[in-house]
Amino acid sequence: MKKKYLLAPGPTPVPPEALLSMAHPIIHHRTPQFSAIFEEVKKGLQKIFQTEQDVLVLASSGTGAMESAVSNIFNKGDKVLVVNGGKFGERWGKISEAYGLQVIWLDVEWGRAVKIEDVKKVLEQEGNVRGVLVQASETSTTVVHPVEELAKLTGRRDDCLLVVDGITGVGVFPIPMDEWGIDVLISGSQKAFMLPPGLSFIALSEKAWGFVEKSQLPRFYFDLKKERKSLGKNTTAYTPAVSLIIGLQDVLRLIESTGLDNIYKKNHRLARATQEAAKALGLRLLAPDSPSDAATGVWLPDGIDGGKFTKALKDDFGVTVAGGQEQLKGKIIRISHMGYIDTFDIIVAISAIEMALKRFGYDIGFGVGVGRAQEVLSEGYVPKSGDSGV
Ligand SMILES: Cc1ncc(COP(=O)(O)O)c(C=O)c1O
Repeated sequence: MKKKYLLAPGPTPVPPEALLSMAHPIIHHRTPQFSAIFEEVKKGLQKIFQTEQDVLVLASSGTGAMESAVSNIFNKGDKVLVVNGGKFGERWGKISEAYGLQVIWLDVEWGRAVKIEDVKKVLEQEGNVRGVLVQASETSTTVVHPVEELAKLTGRRDDCLLVVDGITGVGVFPIPMDEWGIDVLISGSQKAFMLPPGLSFIALSEKAWGFVEKSQLPRFYFDLKKERKSLGKNTTAYTPAVSLIIGLQDVLRLIESTGLDNIYKKNHRLARATQEAAKALGLRLLAPDSPSDAATGVWLPDGIDGGKFTKALKDDFGVTVAGGQEQLKGKIIRISHMGYIDTFDIIVAISAIEMALKRFGYDIGFGVGVGRAQEVLSEGYVPKSGDSGV
């Protein structure tokens, strides 16, 4: 028997309250019982998205909501600017190309945030760009992009939308959709929402709904107008992922009782503790200038095979972190701070990383990273008894 700790940036651990709710016998979705749950859930989602707009609930992973954004707001041949600074930025571009859009790839070095001046320059040079597609938090590089600043650029243009993949942003750090003027905001269940994969969420501004009226791209399952109509009747267009929505009711209550601000502060503290621990161990951060509070990326020392390192962490120490993708494969690890992850999960992760580093021949003193993390973690909140830990 080995106790397991899941610290990958999705799926994240599910709180016991939600697990128990989802284990109840399934109920039918066309019933007043389900509609009451759905009504509560849709209001809870609006609070987390910080929007007055409807937050649509789709039975899909996050990519489904990304695809629905593209297929519902644009037209064939539309020019879109894609912030291409990681795996998920690249996904925006690939989805857009699949629908015949003209993609302007704005390449950003992996580990860096996009520069506002670069976006501004492209928008001015190209003319008639219909959308800027970006990640709030690019999970593959653990970078935060400057969404608030981007929204100021797109907000001045009637013909251009800001489309934000907030899959590891919403519920992790503040992204007030209405206040900042974001046109499309997306998230998914298996990150800060602390649920198994299978639900995605998408909200559109009035300006974006105007684009929907003019969009002619083919779509069937991901028809956002149809979903919006159903949401008005406290249901979904097609069979919803009933059990996940029941779990969602629980996590939304948990988030409400903890307070979004406390959650943001917790995530920031855990991220800072992890960053400081890595530095104390002499490791370099993947995103030194604009790190995300969702996850921390750390370069492994030269000569350590990242694949073997993450396998040893998982198999021998019980700690699951993520490795790198594409060009970062085998070179980095990523440690999550989102959702149902708390102070002592981070202590466990840093401690296991120290032990694994030692095993892989990296000369460190035990406790150096843990001690630094403890200093940062002690600055703030310590869970009270009975607290669910978010
Ligand atoms: C920022 C970001 N965008 C998109 C995705 C893709 O979401 P999914 O795997 O749920 O389709 C992920 C998943 O890790 C992500 O972190």
